[in-house]
Amino acid sequence: MPELDNATNTADVTDTTGFVDPVMLQTHRPHPARIYDYWLGGKDNFPPDRAAAEHAIAAAPDIPQAARENRAFLRRAVQLCVEAGVRQFIDIGSGLPAQGNVHEVAQELAPDSRVVYIDNDPIVLAHGRALLASNHSTTVLTGDLRDLDELLDRPALRELIDLSQPVAVMLMAVLHFVDDAQAAAAVRAVHRRLAPGSFLLLSHSTAEGNPQRAAEVVKTWDDTDSRIRLRGRAEVEAFLTGWEPVEPGVDFVPLWRPDGPTEGSTRWMYAGVGRKA
Ligand SMILES: C[S@@+](CC[C@H](N)C(=O)[O-])C[C@H]1O[C@@H](n2cnc3c(N)ncnc32)[C@H](O)[C@@H]1O
Repeated sequence: MPELDNATNTADVTDTTGFVDPVMLQTHRPHPARIYDYWLGGKDNFPPDRAAAEHAIAAAPDIPQAARENRAFLRRAVQLCVEAGVRQFIDIGSGLPAQGNVHEVAQELAPDSRVVYIDNDPIVLAHGRALLASNHSTTVLTGDLRDLDELLDRPALRELIDLSQPVAVMLMAVLHFVDDAQAAAAVRAVHRRLAPGSFLLLSHSTAEGNPQRAAEVVKTWDDTDSRIRLRGRAEVEAFLTGWEPVEPGVDFVPLWRPDGPTEGSTRWMYAGVGRKA
């Protein structure tokens, strides 16, 4: 971690291009990456993050379970892509390092896998650099999914990712932080820019499994820069328009190709995977 200047809430972070940026960590406000880290049992969170995360838990005690189930879906979907021959991964809205990071799952099965993590919260870059210091097949960039074309053109990304070959792009638990037009533009750009044989991996929060509790849970992100938008199954399916659906299509996260019992699993998020023909 870079040293935090408590007076300004800033820290110097050098990204993989050598650019030094004063980063606003804004520890006095809750941030989605750190709220999620708290639910996953991580230590990279501050009192406002914990207060927001606990608000959700008070309204819906199964929220941390939903976060863990989302990580398990990520693992299953990455394994599917590796088995399909994909060796390049771009994880957008990657979050803070957590158990079963994409590079760990992919490189365990195929050591030549290359992974680029992107998040718009600079704290992710600070942690990722430490984690990946000795892994030359993996990098972390700060960027926003609303600038997808710019992200895909970055030299630091192109050093690892060859866009003429299949790539798996992950937009997991992140499209719900942007509006309809921005989300649609991002998935369209991914489809346009990737080679045939590429995959899009999605998960997305929804109220449809918990109509009574959702309104209170949504307030969790009220004080962050990223209000959440819960969407329905049809809207998540629409994000995969133009992609060949991978069985079983869009379903609740724990029910998407489960590898164990699903009794008692949550219904907070939808999952879907598409392949570019
Ligand atoms: C709920 S976490 C999901 C982490 C990981 N993708 C997963 O599914 O386990 C959402 C992440 O998206 C990031 N994020 C939110 N809005 C974003 C945006 N517009 N562009 C890039 N990242 C964003 C947050 O900083 C946070 O780390």
